[in-house]
Order: sequence, then structure tokens, then C-alpha cells
Amino acid sequence: VLLIIATTILAYLLGSIPSAVWYSQTFFGIDIRQHGSGNAGATNTFRVLGRRAGTVVMLADVLKGYLATALAALLYNFEIIPETELLTWKLAFGTVAVIGHLYPVFAGFKGGKGVATLLGMVLAIHPELAAVCIGVFLLVLIASQYVSLGSIMAALAFPVLLLLRIFGENESPLLIIFGFVMFLIVVFTHQKNIGRLLRGEENRTVLIRLRRK
Ligand code: G3P
Repeated sequence: VLLIIATTILAYLLGSIPSAVWYSQTFFGIDIRQHGSGNAGATNTFRVLGRRAGTVVMLADVLKGYLATALAALLYNFEIIPETELLTWKLAFGTVAVIGHLYPVFAGFKGGKGVATLLGMVLAIHPELAAVCIGVFLLVLIASQYVSLGSIMAALAFPVLLLLRIFGENESPLLIIFGFVMFLIVVFTHQKNIGRLLRGEENRTVLIRLRRK
């Protein structure tokens, strides 16, 4: 039990690594949350600080979701959790990392919107599904030029594709329910984006771009 509690805390701390905030402070001397959309995520970093910064932040956020989820496999390998509980713990640690990303202890509990971290988690659980969701994201992004719409549609595709049994008959009901819950969380974190989309005021993928300090 103690090990599970320690792992949960570790997953939260991993998710809490505010890569966008730290990167913007370290290399540009600014807080990304005061620029662009105000979000501490890869999209806004890309928008405000450019391609390289956005890519680094995206990879870091995906990686932390992946690693937190993979902690469950580690516990399984050490026979601390049984195989029957592996998916449950992957979902639990991954979710804790997403919560860490939304409310990071290292950045005043004001983090991002959870999309990249969620992607890392899905990559660790169901890589084919993650690949198709990335495809949905890119299609919507290219067609609409709205990253937020791409994120929301990819998050919706996650449970819907499982429900449609696109990858076979044996999808876990737990994973499907979880996918819908995650979709609701993504809608929750994108409330302002949805408002802007409905008003036709959402940021397109244009770069504002600040100069490096
Ligand atoms: O993943 C975040 C993205 O969907 C929206 O980011 O900065 O446009 O609010 P942003």
C-alpha cells in the first residue's frame, strides 16, 4: 500500500512538471501564462515562442504522461500489482499525472489543459488508438486551423473509436468509460476555447512570437 501511495505521489509530481512555464522562464525570461492564450501548454508555447520551444514542451508533456502511466507496468513487473489490475492502475497513475499537469504544485497550481499529457497516457495504454487520435487531431487542425478544436475532436474520438470496436471486440469497458470522462475533462479545460470558437474569435495557428532574451 505504501508503495502505491508513493507511486501516486510520484505520478502527480511528474505531471506537475510545468514544462511550458519553466521553458519560457529559463530561455525567454517570461511566464508563458501572461502571453498568447495564457495557457501553460505546448500550443501556446508554439504560438508565442516558436516551433522549437513548442516542440520541446510538447515532447516533455507527452513524456510525463507516458512515464506516469508506465509506473503501473513497473509495479506489475515487481509483482506489486496483479495483471488483472494493471489497466486500472495505468489509468489511475495517468489520470493523476493529468491532474498534476492541470494543477501543478511547482507552478502555483495553474497549469495547462491536459491534452499532451493525456496523449502520453493513451500512448502507454493503447498505441494504435493514440495514433488514430493524432490523425484526427491533425485532420481537424489542418481543416479548421484551430488547435483547440483538434484537441477536443481527438479527445472525443478516443472513446467513440473504442465504442465502435474499430480496434477489435475486446476493448475494456473501463477504458471506454474512462475515455468519455477524459473527454469531459478536455471540454472542461477548453471552456474558454469553446466560447471563442462559438463566437468565431478563437486563435488560429498564427505565431505571435516573442524574441529570445
Ligand atoms: O491543448 C491546448 C490546445 O487545445 C489549446 O491551447 O493555447 O489555444 O488555448 P490554447
